Amino acid sequence: MAVFKVSVSVIIIALVSSSLSLAHPGWGFGWGGGGGGNSGGYIGLVPEFYQYSCPQANDIVMSVLEKAIAKEPRMAASLLRLHFHDCFVQGCDASVLLDNSATIASEKNSGPNSNSIRGFEVIDEIKAKLEEACPQTVSCADILALAARGSTVLSGGPYWELPLGRRDSKTASFSGSNRNIPPPNSTLQNLLTFFNRQGLDEVDLVALSGGHTIGVARCATFKQRLYNQNGNNQPDETLERGYYFGLKSVCPQSGGDNNISPLDFASPAKFDNTYFKLILFGKGLLTSDEVLLTGNVGNTMELVKSYAEDEGLFFNQFAKSMVKMGSISPLSDYNGEVRKNCRRVN
Ligand code: HEM
Repeated sequence: MAVFKVSVSVIIIALVSSSLSLAHPGWGFGWGGGGGGNSGGYIGLVPEFYQYSCPQANDIVMSVLEKAIAKEPRMAASLLRLHFHDCFVQGCDASVLLDNSATIASEKNSGPNSNSIRGFEVIDEIKAKLEEACPQTVSCADILALAARGSTVLSGGPYWELPLGRRDSKTASFSGSNRNIPPPNSTLQNLLTFFNRQGLDEVDLVALSGGHTIGVARCATFKQRLYNQNGNNQPDETLERGYYFGLKSVCPQSGGDNNISPLDFASPAKFDNTYFKLILFGKGLLTSDEVLLTGNVGNTMELVKSYAEDEGLFFNQFAKSMVKMGSISPLSDYNGEVRKNCRRVN
């Protein structure tokens, strides 16, 4: 019996530590930094976190996603982006889901999010079903991570083993949201600075930008490129001509700020490597997309070219970088809580 006990605990330790190596891409990663809320006692995230407490968690997430994405393919993109906007502001703690209240200044109203992020009703539906099946067990932060992976898979992209066990914040950061989410007209150096602050490097920047293989952007976010990129009333010269004229017809010089254009016009609902191929032809939609090729800092040009050439390479790195992004300053142990309703603290 004693032998049995020892070997079981060895197996458990082995399981946990192999998962830990996935969850910890390396120390010096910035845990608790960048405005993160993780103050010590960090144990780490493990893929088996809900194995006993809610084994059907991922199935429930997937069944809601399948319906939502069948009804509106863009929803996959919106949910992927929601996880990104959560993780870059005080870590992956579902702070982005909190509504305004007496104690919360909602991140939903920040510059990068207002009139832009979406998908909250789908998260609510997933949460309601999970509360029925396993009350107060699956955190909203983990729901965002599961929804991002599921949305990627349902759009034709890669699957990855997903470390779980994030807890939900009791706070949000409106100012952190304004400060930490990179703007679309960023230079390459700026993008790198924003990503480095979160413990992410240039490889993560290029691979994760590949999330723009699905979804759309509003004219407001790229109009400057069409009419006045450098303050001289000229268009961005890196824009391919035909593409430029097409975009001008969608986005007039005045008005139309909420008109939309696909980030990857060739296959806007399919998760593939066309995004990188388009960038090579001057058909990236945002400045932040095109500068990955033209920005002339570090190795990003080579990375764009290699992902354009090799979809498998892109998928592999996207999966790795999503695990890394999903591990930014999670709350664990007794920090935070598992919200009953993702929109408010318990
Ligand atoms: C590199 C820095 C990034 C910048 C500057 C950026 C900027 C933007 C902008 C401006 C939009 C359009 C928003 C609007 O029209 O209101 C957008 C959409 C989107 N972004 Fe990013 N983004 C970045 C990184 C990422 C990352 C890391 C991901 C995910 C891994 C991502 C996923 C998406 C998706 C899927 C959409 C489409 C959303 C939809 O259709 O609802 N982005 N992004």
